[in-house]
Amino acid sequence: MVVVAFVHPDLGIGGAERLVVDAALALRRKGHRVHLFTAHHDPTHCFPETTDGQLEVTCVENWLPRSTCDRLMALWAYLRMVYVALYLVVTSGLAFDVVFVDQVSACIPILRLRRQAKVLFYCHFPDQLLTQRRTLLKRLYRYFLDTLEECTTGQADCVLVNSHFTASVYRDTFASIGAAPSVLYPSLDFDKFDKYSSLSLPDVGLDINSNCMFLSLNRFERKKNLNLALESFSLLVNRVGEQLAATLHLMLAGGYDQHLQENVEHYTELVNSAKSLGIVDKVTFLKSPEDRVKVALLRAAKCLLYTPDKEHFGIVPVEAMYMSTPVIAVNSGGPRETVVSGETGILTHQTQEAFADAMETFVMGTSDRAAMGTAAHHRVVNNFSFVKFSEHLNYIVQGLMDERKQK
Ligand SMILES: *[C@@H]1O[C@H](CO)[C@@H](O)[C@H](O)[C@H]1NC(C)=O
Repeated sequence: MVVVAFVHPDLGIGGAERLVVDAALALRRKGHRVHLFTAHHDPTHCFPETTDGQLEVTCVENWLPRSTCDRLMALWAYLRMVYVALYLVVTSGLAFDVVFVDQVSACIPILRLRRQAKVLFYCHFPDQLLTQRRTLLKRLYRYFLDTLEECTTGQADCVLVNSHFTASVYRDTFASIGAAPSVLYPSLDFDKFDKYSSLSLPDVGLDINSNCMFLSLNRFERKKNLNLALESFSLLVNRVGEQLAATLHLMLAGGYDQHLQENVEHYTELVNSAKSLGIVDKVTFLKSPEDRVKVALLRAAKCLLYTPDKEHFGIVPVEAMYMSTPVIAVNSGGPRETVVSGETGILTHQTQEAFADAMETFVMGTSDRAAMGTAAHHRVVNNFSFVKFSEHLNYIVQGLMDERKQK
């Protein structure tokens, strides 16, 4: 048995948190002892596994602010993680063998104080590429944080990333770090999908009069490039002739938070865009669908349209493929590793013509949806299962323990 501590900034609900919770569950089921340490854990906004007794969680209370006058958020986030790491090393009394850190590498030097322990860092994406630096002062501030990120990331015993795409970005960003990261793909909880797999659209209250629905499932953010779905769909409608066009529908569903200005603005932009393209009667917008609705949509769709460019990993295509729905995605980033073009979907250019061409093959039947769907489902079962994920992570942890013994 290995004792694994996890250090994570905010155990809320998001892609990074899902991965951390999955990693903890995986190691626990492999017979290890796991304990999560975090600076923020709100029982009303978190994954159920962190409150229902499956995972041990310690929220390290601290008086550190979130920001100074709405600024220096990253710095304070770093300091909060340092604080959590100090708590783990000095106060908690937990004799951990391995510590799993993600998002903020700045706490690694503190964790290194435990000389016996091995540090595993999961890099979802280099933090410095996710921030803007418009003013000179901001550039200076970020220079300091970026340098800190690179130095401390390099101190981990093992770095994991979510795709080969992220691995290549990592190598370009952290040029001074010699060791290449390993890829540990996120996985899918099949049970969550199987539970709802018999639901049809009317079952979940959606009345869509179309046997050819294209689905886009993404947060309403500009970087997700949702306009591409609208534009290519409009092009398709104009191409196929009236009779076929009458059967087509586009569903734009995705996470929407009314407190986020970008979500609100972008949603309106997209609705206006649908109006000006003259396709409002063929497009449905759906804010934050529940899981059961999501599953029913994924199953009912002719194809998933996945429009972001250079997505780090992209779990939605994997979800669609599990539901035996082929994926049309931009040929860049994570989808290049999850979707096999011509077999489980089509990878293509990020243009409306290219997307419309790909969609047309499904409308005309030149792409065999059923065969692709079957291949897609098998690919996910073989490559992106929780079992596969658990085995891979366990292998990595055992490798770290072996290294320790050899010292
Ligand atoms: C998928 O699984 C097969 C067989 O196990 C393996 O050869 C292949 O490399 C895997 N692909 C990915 C992207 O994990």
